[in-house]
Amino acid sequence: MSGPVSVRIHGRIAIAEVDHPPVNALSHGVRAGLMEAVERVDASPELDALVIICAGRTFFSGADIKEFGKPPQSPQLPQLIDRLESAAKPVVAAIHGKALGGGLELALGCHARVALSSARIGLPEVKLGLVPGAGGTQRLPRLVGFAAAVPIVAEGGEVPAPKALAMGALDAVVDTDLEAAAIAHAQALVAGGAPLRRTRDLPAPAADAALVEETRKSLARKKRGHSAPQAAIDAILLAQEFPFEEALRRENALCHELMQGAQSKALRHLFAAEREVARVPGLEGVAPRSVSTVGVVGTGTMGAGIVQAFANAGFTVIAVASSEEKASAAMARIGKAYAGLVARGSLSQDESDRRVARISVSAELAALAGADLVVESITEDLARKQALFATLGAVTRPGAILASNTSYLDIDTLAAASGRPADVCGMHFFNPANVMRLLENVRASATATDVLATLMDTGKRIGKLPIMSGVCEGFVVNRLLAKRSREGFFMLEEGATPGQIDKVLTGFGFPMGPYALSDLAGIDLQYAARQVRMAGLTEREKSADFVDQLYALGRYGQKTGAGWYRYGEDRKPQPDPAIAELLAAHAAARGITQRSVGDQEVLERCLYAMVNEGAKLLGEGIVARPHEVDIAMVNAIGWPDTTGGPLWWADATGLPAVRDAMLRYAAIAGDEYWMPAPLIERLVAEGKGFYG
Ligand code: COA
Repeated sequence: MSGPVSVRIHGRIAIAEVDHPPVNALSHGVRAGLMEAVERVDASPELDALVIICAGRTFFSGADIKEFGKPPQSPQLPQLIDRLESAAKPVVAAIHGKALGGGLELALGCHARVALSSARIGLPEVKLGLVPGAGGTQRLPRLVGFAAAVPIVAEGGEVPAPKALAMGALDAVVDTDLEAAAIAHAQALVAGGAPLRRTRDLPAPAADAALVEETRKSLARKKRGHSAPQAAIDAILLAQEFPFEEALRRENALCHELMQGAQSKALRHLFAAEREVARVPGLEGVAPRSVSTVGVVGTGTMGAGIVQAFANAGFTVIAVASSEEKASAAMARIGKAYAGLVARGSLSQDESDRRVARISVSAELAALAGADLVVESITEDLARKQALFATLGAVTRPGAILASNTSYLDIDTLAAASGRPADVCGMHFFNPANVMRLLENVRASATATDVLATLMDTGKRIGKLPIMSGVCEGFVVNRLLAKRSREGFFMLEEGATPGQIDKVLTGFGFPMGPYALSDLAGIDLQYAARQVRMAGLTEREKSADFVDQLYALGRYGQKTGAGWYRYGEDRKPQPDPAIAELLAAHAAARGITQRSVGDQEVLERCLYAMVNEGAKLLGEGIVARPHEVDIAMVNAIGWPDTTGGPLWWADATGLPAVRDAMLRYAAIAGDEYWMPAPLIERLVAEGKGFYG
């Protein structure tokens, strides 16, 4: 047999081995090969059973995502699974790595499942905006019961093999020799001679109405705006009303309906984009430098988070503070952070000890002589950073990478100061740095390609989602956010309120509105950031000085009980008449006549401003592809993933309409803020979108 499926014979057992790199997706060739294998076993008197096993790193990772949207090719997955389940002779799935989505559905249709103890199973379809479409929502509950199946189907998490065994999803778990164990299991089934256990013939468990209601509520909160998790519950409940075949047909129809929808398209785009941004043009085949010891200069909130991010991933970390006192205070704070994780049960004491042991602190930059990579995270002050880079250039070994965590400052200036510009770059983390997934790696004009390859590699090693950006003020995330802030402030001048803007944006799907977030992050910090950027602001941006006014009033946000909102004991934001007065007085003092600003205008001005800036970044070559912009905004600021990120969303909205709205807003706020990016004009003229 040619193609990805080969059949070997062991005594009276046929072993169908699937080798379809990289992750054994259930593509057409795989399905066809397995169909042929089961037909052959059923038709051959000298064969007693079929074992299905995969080569490479994993069992089937699911339906082939790359076939979605293309004309279906027979045999389709439900047909194949039905054929396997209907086989007259035992079919045993031998699972290693992960059995995901269609891969698990196929295994559930087999007569037994044997897995390595390191394996995991799951139905992650909801993460792609889908529900299982090949019987997963009908077969899993029949094996594990209703209550155990609901979270697996509706939340898409993975279950480790030992737990899956205890639940009843697996029949045996072994530590080694999977193939031998699966063969032995098949032989035992043959020898036992009992009727085959077909999952479809098991009774459907009764639904637990209270659990359904509770899960629906919790999903509505945790996955706000996502339709797939609710649809997954609908699919499980089909078993209450319909016989197996009909429930399967309806489940499949539901899956196909979701596949055509905007949410699933957006989520699948993000799945592919996450993998695309890892492939930086120009770095193909470039070997990264070796990194095992990392220095972090600056031990404030960001620095301490960065220290933990590296220590958590097994790097040796040397944290340098500006004094002995600050160094020991930082170590104490970091130790406390780990102790907190242990107390909450999210980290073992042993693992915490190992992480802490990887960290040392010093007040001397000379301690960094042996570092392979140094991340600078001191106050945003260009002169101080230049001086630091000059020293780092001298004290670190040649070839050690020097990265700045600056948000706004020009990394080329720091590179020049270091005397080793080829080794200098940016690594821009987001707060809290040990938690947030996005990492903006920054390529300065002289950064060596192997340094860039090291940044991408190291980012992945510390569990981040790294993207590559060129040098510009604010890189991707802060550059786009600055435009949303600008429009927000302009609209506050024109008559909108913080409560209105927050409500419109949370309504769109952001987890928090900009003003509630600003109160949480601290207006004092935004005041400091604004001072750094002041010289680059336009006259109107300088004049929209709400942050300065709040700062002068000591309204720093939640920490002082008042900022854009007032806060009581419950820390819930309450509208504050003092802010309404401040806004009115501000407009009056500047001769601005206030009006009622509509919600649609609020939404468009906040979001289109970001789309336009994203287009500029792309047009200027700061990022290589629109994917970087979408991945950055979804992962750093909670741009709703169901819309695919700003540029995907602009395409879905229709770029000509977006462009026309920009021209309309130019008439209100001024050409300098709203002229569509040249790239947008070009794409509209060509009848294209950012994604073609
Ligand atoms: N269909 C087609 N291609 C798939 C795939 C699938 N179901 N799952 C993964 N791939 C591809 C990825 O796109 C990637 O391709 P690329 O190298 O061209 O970018 C490649 O396989 C490797 O995947 P990656 O995610 O980088 O590898 P990993 O080892 O980190 O993770 C998985 C492997 C299987 C855990 C992960 O890819 C995954 O979760 N896949 C989706 C599973 C899923 O949702 N299945 C249900 C589909 S309805």
